[in-house]
Amino acid sequence: MEKYPGKKNIAVLISGRGSNLKSLIKYSKEKKSLFKILLVISNNVDAEGLKYASKYKIKNYGIKYKNKLNFENQSLKILKKNNVDMLCLAGFMKILSGNFIKKFSKPILNIHPSLLPKYKGLNTHERAIKNKDKFAGATIHEVTQKLDSGKVILQKKVRIFKSDNSRNLKKKVLKIEHKIYAKAINMFLANL
Ligand code: GAR
Repeated sequence: MEKYPGKKNIAVLISGRGSNLKSLIKYSKEKKSLFKILLVISNNVDAEGLKYASKYKIKNYGIKYKNKLNFENQSLKILKKNNVDMLCLAGFMKILSGNFIKKFSKPILNIHPSLLPKYKGLNTHERAIKNKDKFAGATIHEVTQKLDSGKVILQKKVRIFKSDNSRNLKKKVLKIEHKIYAKAINMFLANL
């Protein structure tokens, strides 16, 4: 018998450590979760996160990154074959092409470590500190062809204190990332 009947099949794309993946896996096993994690794909064959997936007996694929087209074609094949309903990027550090987004044709969500539309791209915490911002945070948004620009699903702030530096700010933001990503996926699915 299916272990989590009625839950949507999610695939997670990662590039490294996978702490967000870990929090998603944990949440997905709770009754209130509207999703289950069917598989994990990484563009980095050595990604730590792939080990979490194995530990929790989730199918996982490390694809040696030769170029975008090759990676995306291999990923699409896996996603289609497995009947994936939605894709979630969790620390995935490549930019998906418009072609991939069109061909996948199902929702794609991303978590970004800033209060979008502020600080798209990299080094978000450094930029927030440099600009003497009062708040930093994380955003879950839909993925479109324009980098870090799709519709915002959920956002949460943390206060930046004078004593903060980019390293501890990163840790504070990561902590809230772990709290909001799964919640945002559930909210998104509930509204589909
Ligand atoms: C997270 O902070 C995530 O928001 C960020 O990478 C980190 C991955 O950590 N993502 C991006 O910067 C995407 N542009 P994790 O591998 O431990 O989840």
